[in-house]
Amino acid sequence: MRADERPKMRAVVAHDYGAPEVLKLEQVPRPEPNDDEALVRVIASSVNPADPLTLSGKYAKEFGTHLPLIPGYDIAGVVEKTGTNLTRLKVGDAVYGYPTFGGGWADYVTVKEWEAAKKPQSLNFVEAAAVPMGALTAWQALVDVAKLQPGQTILIHGGSGGVGGFAVQIGKARGARVIATASTANQELLKQLGADVAVDYTKTKFEDVAKDVDAVLDPVGKDTLARSYGVVKKGGIVMSLVARPDPAELEKHGIRGAGISVHADADDLTEIAQLIDAGKIKPIVTEVLPLTDAVKAQQQAATHHTRGKVVLRVADEPRG
Ligand SMILES: NC(=O)c1ccc[n+]([C@@H]2O[C@H](COP(=O)([O-])OP(=O)(O)OC[C@H]3O[C@@H](n4cnc5c(N)ncnc54)[C@H](OP(=O)(O)O)[C@@H]3O)[C@@H](O)[C@H]2O)c1
Repeated sequence: MRADERPKMRAVVAHDYGAPEVLKLEQVPRPEPNDDEALVRVIASSVNPADPLTLSGKYAKEFGTHLPLIPGYDIAGVVEKTGTNLTRLKVGDAVYGYPTFGGGWADYVTVKEWEAAKKPQSLNFVEAAAVPMGALTAWQALVDVAKLQPGQTILIHGGSGGVGGFAVQIGKARGARVIATASTANQELLKQLGADVAVDYTKTKFEDVAKDVDAVLDPVGKDTLARSYGVVKKGGIVMSLVARPDPAELEKHGIRGAGISVHADADDLTEIAQLIDAGKIKPIVTEVLPLTDAVKAQQQAATHHTRGKVVLRVADEPRG
């Protein structure tokens, strides 16, 4: 079907790179799923700190983003239509996922089958939309890369954030001892999430508390990353979400390093949904805004001083 023949939908669109104000709510043609895609009716889609960077054009070369651009890399919704090659997702399934190229800030989005999985049954759609990218990043770092074992100790910086909040809970669910850092306002939250030790980085140097840890998760970079190498025991690992660990520092301390790059993975999403339904991890939703407040949501995302996730509500929760 040609684009001008397709039914129209609402979408938050950027036709130019720039500040959040370039985003406009428009009527655009609804996407059509390819053979390997599902069309999802979006109920909610969350906000990520990387959104303003994507919008600025920074990722155009690195990740192949292009204009016009519809943000929205975390979605929860209902499968409306399936391509002929799909084997797992069915029309009517309640799903959540991470569409790699965005598009979630709209009434409909297409996802590859490997980008989405059945939504955790214990969460509503707004809560489920707060999960995919943050939880996948934490899961892939702690489980796939660090292979965190029961009894090991992990230092998680920014434990109150979109990634860190999941990392603290996943660390505890894997039987590890978790030391987590955040500012004063988020100390109680770190405890609620299950951190064994909560460090207020505005008052205490984390090096004074965390020593000989098995792993560090760093979503902050710069000085925080630079000071992290020295707290890891020989053979341990420093993982950063925002920088490549310095090879000279790794060699000096006899440790390993990894720059984490999250990817969509339906199997990981299924395992995460099981942990959520088992009551082991939960998302932190701090604010729910209507789709029409997308610009405000993007402005907030640029601050890096959030707790949990801000979610855009695209449609009412389906009944039943
Ligand atoms: N590489 C990847 O695949 C990948 C994937 C996801 C995210 N990311 C990136 O990772 C970063 C974090 O993402 P996010 O969603 O967790 O962000 P977020 O929700 O904005 O959380 C950032 C957290 O960092 C804390 N923080 C700020 N300065 C700190 C410091 N000096 N020491 C310790 N904690 C500090 C903040 O807590 P306070 O307010 O209490 O300070 C906040 O909770 C972003 O830059 C994002 O773009 C990368």
